[in-house]
This record gives sequence, C-alpha cells and structure tokens, in this order.
Amino acid sequence: MRWRTSVWVHAAAVGAMTLLGACGGVASGQDPVRFDEQAKTFRMDGAGTTYAFGVNEKGELQTIYWGGALGKDDKLPAAHSSPEAATFDPAVNTTPQEYAGLGAGMYVEPALKVSFANGNRDLELRYLSHSTASDGLTVMLKDISEEVYVELRYSIDAATGIVGRSATIENRTKEAITVEQASAATWNLPRGDDYTLRYLTGRWAGEWQLQQKKVQPGATVLESRRGSTGHQNNPWFAISRGDIGRDNAGENAGEVWFGALAWSGSWRITVEQDQVRQVRVTGGYNPFDFAYKLNPGERLSTPVFYAGYTAQGIGEASRRMHRFELTRVLPQAPKPRPRPVIYNSWEATEFAVDEAGQEALAAKAARIGVERFVMDDGWFGARNTDHAGLGDWEVNRTKFPHGLKPLIDSVHALGMDFGLWVEPEMVNPDSDLYRKHPDWVLNFPGRPRTEGRNQLVLNLARPDVRAYVFGFLDKLLNENQIAFLKWDYNRNWSEPGWPAVAPDEQKKVYVEYVKNLYGILRELRAKHPAVEIESCSGGGGRVDLGILALTDEVWPSDNTDPFDRLKIQDGFTYAYSPGVMMAWVTDSPSWVNNRTTSLAYRFLSSMQGSLGVGANLNKWSDADFATAKDLIAAYKQVRETVQHGSLYRLVSPRDGSEQSVTESVALDRHEAVLFAFLHSSQMFYPYPRVQLKGLDAGAQYRVAAISGALVKGSPEVESGAYWMEHGVDVDLRGDFQAAAFRFERAQ
Ligand code: DGJ
Repeated sequence: MRWRTSVWVHAAAVGAMTLLGACGGVASGQDPVRFDEQAKTFRMDGAGTTYAFGVNEKGELQTIYWGGALGKDDKLPAAHSSPEAATFDPAVNTTPQEYAGLGAGMYVEPALKVSFANGNRDLELRYLSHSTASDGLTVMLKDISEEVYVELRYSIDAATGIVGRSATIENRTKEAITVEQASAATWNLPRGDDYTLRYLTGRWAGEWQLQQKKVQPGATVLESRRGSTGHQNNPWFAISRGDIGRDNAGENAGEVWFGALAWSGSWRITVEQDQVRQVRVTGGYNPFDFAYKLNPGERLSTPVFYAGYTAQGIGEASRRMHRFELTRVLPQAPKPRPRPVIYNSWEATEFAVDEAGQEALAAKAARIGVERFVMDDGWFGARNTDHAGLGDWEVNRTKFPHGLKPLIDSVHALGMDFGLWVEPEMVNPDSDLYRKHPDWVLNFPGRPRTEGRNQLVLNLARPDVRAYVFGFLDKLLNENQIAFLKWDYNRNWSEPGWPAVAPDEQKKVYVEYVKNLYGILRELRAKHPAVEIESCSGGGGRVDLGILALTDEVWPSDNTDPFDRLKIQDGFTYAYSPGVMMAWVTDSPSWVNNRTTSLAYRFLSSMQGSLGVGANLNKWSDADFATAKDLIAAYKQVRETVQHGSLYRLVSPRDGSEQSVTESVALDRHEAVLFAFLHSSQMFYPYPRVQLKGLDAGAQYRVAAISGALVKGSPEVESGAYWMEHGVDVDLRGDFQAAAFRFERAQ
C-alpha cells in the first residue's frame, strides 16, 4: 500500500482547516484521510461512508467513488477521464470533475466561471499540489496558463460521514478578473437514471413543503435570488435510489445522498443529469446578477457545501443531518443547551406592548413553567404599527417610561430570563434613521425604492451600516440584562444597488452583506457569550447551516396553526433538527385558518420541537392554566430526547394521510417519546398499530401516557422487541386528536 500523508503546507490552507474544525473519532486502524501517491487518489472515510477522488491523466480532479465504506485496504484505481461520447460532447462533459472551470468545450454545469480583462473566458483547472490533515485535506488547482488558483478544502466528520467542501479563488495575474459563477463544490453521484430528488419549497406561512420527483435528463435548479436564504427553496437536497413513493416510502431503507449549503445569501444548487446519465449536484453563490471582481492578489472564498451518504433511507439521512448540526454546526456544539420553554408576546399583543401589559403576561407565563419571556415587536421608537420606527432602537418612553429595566427585573423576579425582538437589517422610511441616512439602504439612485412591509433593507455591506448595527445591538446588550435576541428579517431585497462603490464592485453586495451579517453575529457572541439568538425571517425565511453556526434556534414559520404545523414541522426535520425548531402553542381558533383545536392538541403539536407559548394568556381559563402547567412539566422531562435524540418519522402527515406519528429516541436508548395525531376519522377505520423504532430490542420498557391513552388492555411493560415488532395501539377517534407517550427503560 502506498497510502500516506503528504506534508504540502500552505498558510491559508492551514487557516482553512482550523475554520472547518476538528473531527473526532477515527475508525480503528484507519486514517480518515489518505492519499495514494502512486495512483494519485484521495480517500476519506467516516461513519460507514467512503468519499474518493483522484488526479486523472490530464491533471483534472475527478470523483472516483462516493457511497458505502470500501474495505480498509481496497486499492482505488487511478482516475481516468471518460471517453468522448461523441464529437458533440468533448470529454470534459462526461468526466465527473470535482471542481471544473468553464472551458474546453464544457456545456454541463461548471463549478467556476471567470472572465479575464483581455476577453478570455476559458478556464481549465489542473491539480497543482495538496496537503492532508487528520480531518481533511486541501488541494490546489491552477488554470493551464493563467495565474488563477483555486484552493479546494475538504473535511469529514467521523461521526456522520458528512463531508464539507469549499473553494477559494485567487487572482495572481497582473490584472483584475471577474468571477461570474463560484460554487463551493460539485458532488458526483454514481451514474444512474433511477434517482429521486427530494427538496423543500414554500412561501410565507407555508414553508417546508417536501417535494419529490424523479431525476431526469436536464437540470433542476433550487435557488434564492432574494439576497437571503428565502422561504421559496431551502438550500438542502436529498437524492435517493429508486423510490418515488407516497407517504414515507424510502424512509427506512435505501441509498440516499444528501447535502446542505451553509449560506444565508442568494444561493443556487443545480441537480443535473447529463447526456451520459451522470448526476451531479453543484452549489454555491447564485450566479444570477452575480459578479465578483478580484484585483491582483485578491481572493474570494465560497461558503461550505456539506453532503453525506447513507444506505438506511431518508430517515437516517435526516438523523445524520440533525447529529451534524447539533455536534458540529451550532455555536454551542457539541453539547447545545436544551432550548428553554419560552413565552412570546407577538400573537397576544402585537405592537401594543407596554410595561404593565407585558408584566401581566409574564406573571401568567411564570405560573405555567415558562423559562424565558420574550417581548416581540413594538417596544422601540414610534413603532405602533409596521409603518414607522424600524431603525430607531431607543426604548419607546410612552410604553416604557423607565426603560426596559422594570420589566426585565419583574421577569427575573418571576424566575425567567428575558428575551427581546430586533430586526437590525431593516428601516422604515418613516424613521429618524432613514431621515438621517437615506443613502444607507440598498438602492439604485434615481429609481423607485420598492418597499416590503413598509420597510427598506439597510445595506449591511457598507462599513458604516455594519458599525451602526453592531453598535446599537452591543449597547442594548450592555445596558440591559438580555439573555436572548429574536433576530427578525421581514422582506427580501429589491433594487440591490450599492451606489457608494464603483459600478463594477457593486454586485459584491451579494457576498459582502452576508459576510458582515455573519461578522456582526460572531462579534456579538464573542462579546456577550451568554446571549442566545434566534434566526427568524417572517417565519422560516432564513434557515440554513450558515446562520445556524451563529444562532441557537430558528423560527420555522409564522403559521402557528397546530395542524398545518404538523406538515411544516415534518418537512423541516428532513433537513434540520427538532432541537432548533421553535414551536409555539397559540390561540384557538387559529388566526391562520380559523381552525379550532384543543389546548392539549396544540401542546402536543408544539412539543415535537422546542416548545414555546404564544397565546394570549389573559384569555385563558383556570383549566387551561392547569393543562399547560402539566404538559410543560411533562415536556421538560422528555425535552432532551425530543430535542437532541434520534427522530423517527413513523407516519407521514403528507399526501392526505389521516394520521401522523413521530418518535424520538434518546441517544443511549433509555427512553423514547411517541407523538400520535389523528387528523380526521374516516369510514370507521381504527387507528393503525404503531411500531416503534430504535429501541434496545432486549431491554424492557414501561409505557406511560403524557396525554391521551392506549387502547384498553394494552400492556404497560414489554421488551423493546415487542414495541418495535408488535407495536402499540393508540386510542384516538374524532378530528384533530392527539396523544403522547413516554417509553422508559424499566430497571
Ligand atoms: C415576523 C415574525 O415571524 C413574527 O413572529 C413577529 O416577530 C413579527 N415579525 C413581528 O413584526
């Protein structure tokens, strides 16, 4: 064997490795990252996955294999470019390159497109050098003649087998070049035409809708052109072999390749099946309206595109994503603090917040066991509606004559911590900030400035705007005992001009804005390490692995109807962990659709994620308070398992199903929590028997109801094998009914 570790050293590469972080757990007797000097192949292994690529006879970097773990000593053949399929398809189209520049007659999706000052737009990247480390590697590519370098970084997470990839493009020529398209990576799947693509689409109040379709010749483009992640598509994909099923076919078995882009700006993921049935997934900055000028010596780094593989179905793909987020991505990784039970004022009081009203709500929230009281929009400036005040981050003295301190003190005296809503990136034209700095917003001079929710977007790419936003947040946190910020963002970009810089620099706004957003979040966290942050964007418009590295939780949707939420939450969990998924219990009938549901039903729907309450507690009866208190207490007992355990989607709420069921299993399998919902009883069918998953077959588990009941005569203590093979009969009849059970390992 000639597997060995090379010692090619490059300062920037070393820095990048640190950024990607250290992976734990090396499979015994095997380096997770290896290079075969003779065959010029690279191989990374983790969690039953092997990812391999090599340098082919032309010097191109070519994918060799991505799938289940190969034998430890298997020798990978050297990469060899694919034959030219026809004179119409030069080999560059049929060779599965890891990171191809657009050039040499390429018609398929490139990773990188560059134009040079002399008019040349041809780029052919070849291997130059590499270095390996224990948890990743760096490969340097260079154009065949121009001094354009691309540094590719790879990391692998030993626990999940998830590979992280990104690229840095460097201009070492003597003139400026323009990057017109820059991806983080191209992922090549084994050639085939039996693939199904899953992806997530949505809109405001209707996020996280799972779509599935056969991968066919041509391309499917998932993207945001909005300046931020967006509700419409989420930067996540999963491609499985074979199944296009209804309900949850493929949930528990079958090969799945899945991934997510860590970027909160405009992005694009292209899933393409080419003329030789090569399926490739290329993702990074959205080339739409994109241009990034690189002067001599300048570099552009892409976001990281993460991807993994499993042969255990889409359910396991989700669990790997969840584990990866919890242990590698979140700011508190590898051991995030469980989300506290919160109360949020928005649906109760909207903009009509004041000291007495919030104190009254806080007192009621404390009675039911809430741990964090969050005051939402309306506390600052002239913010009495959404028409004014945004940008003026001074406490409204009519509503809070003595500032926020009295309210915060009351909240603390009630045993809760205090959280506050902010929307730092926006401004109402009717605000002192806009009157003083009309030039701070994204705009094209002389053109109309399109408003959304009566607001404009501050151009965070500007150093003065960045300083202002950091400054007011820092001051707010210095002057008040705030434990939590709900960071909102309620519109998308329009007229994305940056008139303060030269026209050929303006499109950099797509990158620089997001970099500054990340920079502010990073600095705030460093300066105020105890403060937690939620990413909210009119619901779930900014949820991605980039923002999750800097925030502790997300708000998946403004739609708080508990039945709609079942589908929304189901879709969310394909990509993201229930441990970051906030879910509030709100009033019935729901403002969304006038649907009436019981308080217990609303609680059980929200208890599948990170529980909050957003109802108007002033309208609750004593019985409501008692129900809420009991269910919050029960939730606290199982939340570690719900938020950080392994999620099994047992019955999908999609496709007109009458039921939905989820199960969360503790990592050490000492307990499982089952949530069962009946949407609408039809034709006298009994509730289907539910077979649990993930338990220890040989251990005994005792079942206890959190809410609802099993069918009379059901056993109380049985083996894991019994609950998984025989299953349980849940006693549910009627419309919008729910039950929840805890299975605890018996001593
Ligand atoms: C949109 C958010 O998603 C809501 O929860 C609420 O915070 C409002 N904005 C406040 O304006």
